[in-house]
Amino acid sequence: MKKTAAVIFGGQSSEHVVSCMSAVNVISQIDREKYNLLLIGITEEGRWLYVDNEEAVADGSWKESGVCAHLSPDAVEKCVYIVKADSVEKVPVDLAFPVLHGKWGEDGTIQGLFEMAQIPYVGCGVLASAVSMDKFYTKLIADSVGVRQAAWEPVLGSELKDMDAVVERIEKRFAYPVFIKPSNAGSSRGVSKAADRQSLIDGLREAALHDTKILVEETIVGHEIECAVFGGGSEEVKASGVGEILAAADFYDLRRNTTTPSLKPS
Ligand SMILES: Nc1ncnc2c1ncn2[C@@H]1O[C@H](COP(=O)(O)OP(=O)(O)O)[C@@H](O)[C@H]1O
Ligand SMILES: [Mg+2]
Repeated sequence: MKKTAAVIFGGQSSEHVVSCMSAVNVISQIDREKYNLLLIGITEEGRWLYVDNEEAVADGSWKESGVCAHLSPDAVEKCVYIVKADSVEKVPVDLAFPVLHGKWGEDGTIQGLFEMAQIPYVGCGVLASAVSMDKFYTKLIADSVGVRQAAWEPVLGSELKDMDAVVERIEKRFAYPVFIKPSNAGSSRGVSKAADRQSLIDGLREAALHDTKILVEETIVGHEIECAVFGGGSEEVKASGVGEILAAADFYDLRRNTTTPSLKPS
């Protein structure tokens, strides 16, 4: 019997648009012989909408759906309620695929909801998601297990009141150019590269719009590669092919990249 996969996309983070792009790709790759799809789009305001056709994901018209879809946290029910004007339909789901980026999507929050509902889901669990979403904590953990990484200086948004002191601290530690990024964001939202003092100040102000915690990093020169790792815990660890990120601009920015990063299996 076919399983029902709830594919959840959109979301309330600054990466809403990127998630919608990802959803189009994911939906096109799911094996329909094995899965029925239940599409749920989360608006930027946080409303969960039932999406009754795939084309609506690509053209953005899903936001006009007047039908809400509520994932129940009830572990016995394991279902989504589709709330129409005059009826409520209960759809049992076998698994959830959160194609969400950023806050409330990749940071352990929605994963917590799936855990409560005891619905299997695609991707990392609560702890790994939470730690990996917040670059401060990723850095602390990577440091503690000896993973080499770009040297970094933490800056709190509240410290920007005394911008001169922050700039002095950064300039003492690093030569330009430096990278500035919010601790919690992705798809290069709020990330900038500063080659001089004024762009450092502008970059810090920009990053502060996204998060209260900011990182300033030394620039690493070289090829940028990515590799997904699956499993762990009691499961065998598998690694994907390694892909090289080919940046369309000065550095990688998903929204500006015109081509998909080339994923060349190693
Ligand atoms: N320290 C760095 N040195 C060189 N390039 C960097 C550095 N930090 C970020 N970048 C560039 O900026 C992009 C976005 O930064 P990243 O830390 O990956 O943030 P995000 O979580 O938004 O993907 C990277 O893919 C890379 O191209
Ligand atoms: Mg990145």
